[in-house]
Amino acid sequence: MKADLILYNIGSLVTSREIEKTSDMTNMENIEIIENAYLAVKDDKILQVGKEPIPKDLVDSNTAMVDVHKKVVTPGIVDSHTHLVFYGSRENELPLKIKGVPYLEILRNGGGILSTVRATRKATKDELIKKAMDTLDRMLCFGVTTVESKSGYGLSLEQELKQLEVNSELNKKHPIDIVSTFMGAHAVPEEYRDRPHDYIDEIIKMLPEIKKRNLAEFCDIFCEDEVFSVDESRKILTEAKKEGYKLKIHADEIVSLGGAELAGEVGAVSAEHLMAVSDEGIKSLKENNVIANILPATSFNLGKNYAPVRKMIDEGVNVAISSDYNPGSCPTENMQLVMQICSSQLKMTPAEIFKGVTLNGARALTRENTIGSLEKGKKADFIVYDTDNLNYIFYNFGINHVKDVYKDGKIVV
Ligand code: NIG
Ligand code: FE
Repeated sequence: MKADLILYNIGSLVTSREIEKTSDMTNMENIEIIENAYLAVKDDKILQVGKEPIPKDLVDSNTAMVDVHKKVVTPGIVDSHTHLVFYGSRENELPLKIKGVPYLEILRNGGGILSTVRATRKATKDELIKKAMDTLDRMLCFGVTTVESKSGYGLSLEQELKQLEVNSELNKKHPIDIVSTFMGAHAVPEEYRDRPHDYIDEIIKMLPEIKKRNLAEFCDIFCEDEVFSVDESRKILTEAKKEGYKLKIHADEIVSLGGAELAGEVGAVSAEHLMAVSDEGIKSLKENNVIANILPATSFNLGKNYAPVRKMIDEGVNVAISSDYNPGSCPTENMQLVMQICSSQLKMTPAEIFKGVTLNGARALTRENTIGSLEKGKKADFIVYDTDNLNYIFYNFGINHVKDVYKDGKIVV
């Protein structure tokens, strides 16, 4: 078959295809990196990748040939944990944060998530779409081609539906693919403050309504001190599973509650944050094949400790890396900054980081058969970085190294 498009003269092609692990690799470094490579695309899919020379049978007079001048090419970034759709912003909390007022105290006093809930409830669908489209444009510039988007700033059936319908509109309108997650269990809304159990019943009623409309593939919950306990989380997630949702848990973010253990118990696809994960929790992730989705820019922004990622990798846990983009704990769209934090603060190697933001990001969304690596038949979502070596992307930090972004085989940035 002839290619429509071939990128050639690629200095390093990080295909992210998993290869057999050698003794000098961690379980996160076993991805294929090809020097002097080409990448061939047919329609919206990868046709072939390999070391040059380009096989003659891929090319005819209609093939567009793009010389990338020895630059680095990788799969598009999969940002598998964001709170994309909301209204307003929370810079008013900055002075409190600087003074050291804890995140959960701000929430207890009606700020934090609850202040974004007030703003989001007032916003129209069009306003939410417009704001999120701008956010997605910025994410795309930084190389992101798939984004998971959680609800959780509506906290009533009608308002959660509004947020989830926005996800579905965004998926149609924007080049980035959106994976939708219902997170009605993000906080207890103010009107249920004195009867939180009634809100849990409400969430359980929302589950089939949302599923019926096919508006969410995953269900997530904020399992945290003063938010949803382990028992409450178990109750909601068990119901969600019965309704056909795949599961995620915001686990052990601030307090070591046992969220990671619960993730293993209920068969969650991923456990998120894990800054305060226990050794038992790490064991549970490993034994139950749960992806550890780490969100280091949140630690960076809150001035908190980081998830013990080296320990998780040593134990053989599969790690994904995401932004946690949200208006409170992590207002940034810059996945490259997240990757650079993984390098400088978490001591992850470039190969580990690329696997975390590509193949394992796809795994955290159960999309590993269609995205996350550059292999024949997968989506032609990839990035050209404006550098000829991998280390430079982490060395020169705080800036955007992405030169071109291809989505479904077409250049979009
Ligand atoms: O993942 N932890 C809960 N949810 C978000 C924060 C949301 C917010 O502060 O608005 C998080 O950090
Ligand atoms: Fe989050």
